[in-house]
Amino acid sequence: PPAPIVVVGSANADIYVEVDRLPLAGETVAARAGRSLPGGKGANQAACGGRLALGPTYLVARVGDDANGRLLEGALADAGGVRTDRVARAPDAPSGHAVVMLMPDGQNSIIIVGGANMQGWAAGIGAEDLELIQKAGVLLLQREIPDWVNTQAAQAAKSAGVPVIMDAGGMDAPVPQDLLSLVDIFSPNETELARLTGMPTETFEQISQAAGECHKMGVKEVLVKLGSQGSALFVEGEKPVRQPIIPATEVIDTTGAGDTFTSAFAVALVEGKSKEECMRFAAAAASLCVRVKGAIPSMPDRKSVMKLLESAQVE
Ligand code: RIB
Repeated sequence: PPAPIVVVGSANADIYVEVDRLPLAGETVAARAGRSLPGGKGANQAACGGRLALGPTYLVARVGDDANGRLLEGALADAGGVRTDRVARAPDAPSGHAVVMLMPDGQNSIIIVGGANMQGWAAGIGAEDLELIQKAGVLLLQREIPDWVNTQAAQAAKSAGVPVIMDAGGMDAPVPQDLLSLVDIFSPNETELARLTGMPTETFEQISQAAGECHKMGVKEVLVKLGSQGSALFVEGEKPVRQPIIPATEVIDTTGAGDTFTSAFAVALVEGKSKEECMRFAAAAASLCVRVKGAIPSMPDRKSVMKLLESAQVE
């Protein structure tokens, strides 16, 4: 089987509130429904890897010693295929959580509360976990844990020649240059790309220029998620590669779709697929993800992705 995928990142209890619109300042609105579901960008990407990868997927994360921590451990175990023995309980911090405001068209607004994701690392990543990273086929990072922890993980990967993919989703702060220069493939959406570069990203031309700015910051490859416009990969000195979406029959909930895309891309990359094939595999996985409510509950399995790819080829 291919080498393991190692995800270092967050786990959140997602408190879903289904609303027709967001409340204005000083206003109270009633939700149509609400419940807690497992999520967090690290856990989502690990769950997706667990479902899709032919080899093992590990999650290195911190949860609190509380009910949400147990919810997350249980959900990851149930997701199938994720090795959760590297998920440690932080004694003094609550589990991370997120308020996900879900609109009728499946779009969302999210607020995260870091908790153990931010406070649970004490001295950082343990020696055993660093060794695991060094044996990985790919290291997958996001931005819901401290930058210094991501840097520690990326340094371990780099020293062993393991490719580093970083999803830009998470905290709204510039990525430190020392971390960015360790990243092989950086994957923002248009908003995150604009935030990072301070450049507009409304047109494809502007997105190309902003990706060029990332190249100048030391990132060789920029994989931009463009929502309904699909995705585009900008490799320094090469022509951009574009991949349209594979349309979903019905968009129920886009939460976790970006995580699914990045993780599925990593799964295909570890299998030695071409970048175009990786993007197509990722597009199919994301298309299946948006059809189901919840982040971790909506991660597709490999059989469904292959089936969708086959049928999309016929059309
Ligand atoms: O990317 C989606 C995720 O963002 C949600 O699961 C939520 O926990 C936040 O981390």
